[in-house]
Amino acid sequence: MTQTQVPEQMTAVVLDAFSGAEALRVEQRPVPKPGKNEVLVKVAAAPINPSDIATLAGRYGFKPELPFTPGGEGAGTVVAAGPGAMGRYFMGKRVACLWGGQGNGVWAEYMVASTRGGVLPLDDSVSLEQGAMSTINPMTAIAFTEIAKKGGHKAIVLTAAASALGQKVNRLGRSEGMQIINIVRRDKQVEILKEQGATVVLNSTDADFCEQLREACIQYDARLAFDAVAGPLARQVLDAMPPHSKLTVFGGLSFKPAEASPDALIFKSKSIGGFWLGPWIATKNPIQILRTWRRAQKLITSDLKSQIRTEYPLEQAKQAVLDYQGQMTGGKILLRMDSQ
Ligand SMILES: NC(=O)c1ccc[n+]([C@@H]2O[C@H](COP(=O)([O-])OP(=O)(O)OC[C@H]3O[C@@H](n4cnc5c(N)ncnc54)[C@H](OP(=O)(O)O)[C@@H]3O)[C@@H](O)[C@H]2O)c1
Repeated sequence: MTQTQVPEQMTAVVLDAFSGAEALRVEQRPVPKPGKNEVLVKVAAAPINPSDIATLAGRYGFKPELPFTPGGEGAGTVVAAGPGAMGRYFMGKRVACLWGGQGNGVWAEYMVASTRGGVLPLDDSVSLEQGAMSTINPMTAIAFTEIAKKGGHKAIVLTAAASALGQKVNRLGRSEGMQIINIVRRDKQVEILKEQGATVVLNSTDADFCEQLREACIQYDARLAFDAVAGPLARQVLDAMPPHSKLTVFGGLSFKPAEASPDALIFKSKSIGGFWLGPWIATKNPIQILRTWRRAQKLITSDLKSQIRTEYPLEQAKQAVLDYQGQMTGGKILLRMDSQ
């Protein structure tokens, strides 16, 4: 094993039960050792994402064995490498790290990550703070615009549009000449997006929301929707789009099943599908993945930049999660492992 100086013990966040933030505690754990094709990352920062909240409740796409350290993405420096050429390549490099549900996640001072997709090199121009948020949402924003372009769509409908991801999709989509029909649930969110240059932003709590949405879908010929909310909103969006449209569910923020009217599916040939970043990346060959990653890195300081609302030391992870759940719009909350 190649390594610089690494302590025996580390501070880590641990989840004891699938009951959300209340089941989080902070403890001292042995620093893990990287195996074959793995590296040890000294983590600097990690955001709290909706997928983390779902993981804490046992409602994400993977359900690790308890107790475990959560945290889907972050950034840091590779300080040790197990056997394998890629581990040696990554040694000493600043990287973004991703957790795929095996072993433990990023909310710890050190994390073991696979060299096969679990670590990606950061450009010199990208800070560790922005690097910590440079995988999940930036790559998803690229995926959405790529999927829309491939399908010949010049307009898309987007729900939970004032989210960190939504703002990225807006900037990237606009730079590619795409019309985004944004859906949010509060007037403040309408303001946020309009101040950033969005032209169509609808509030789903308006009495005539469904009518406004139908008109916008006709005006811009929007036949593709990306929906992070599900529940009744999925049905409203599907009903508003023209025949043969598709609704792609990529989040379950309402924690309700996605509704659809049988009429829309049967007589209007509309459809519902899903999107998950991991399987989308897996459809690409290594060169395409590298190209997408390079593009995301180049745009991290502009179209794909993330706003940070506040930072918490790792020790205050529970408070940080509760704060995030109380206010999701307005920038990411970062956990800092390097705050001392
Ligand atoms: N499938 C994938 O591969 C993939 C990849 C990346 C992201 N995502 C999903 O993308 C979505 C956005 O992620 P993010 O990191 O950008 O989120 P974020 O910045 O933390 O913001 C979440 C946004 O969702 C809104 N929201 C929460 N619950 C809602 C509800 N029930 N109805 C309507 N709006 C609601 C919040 O508004 P309030 O302030 O009003 O609560 C906030 O604007 C999440 O669902 C996430 O899981 C999925």
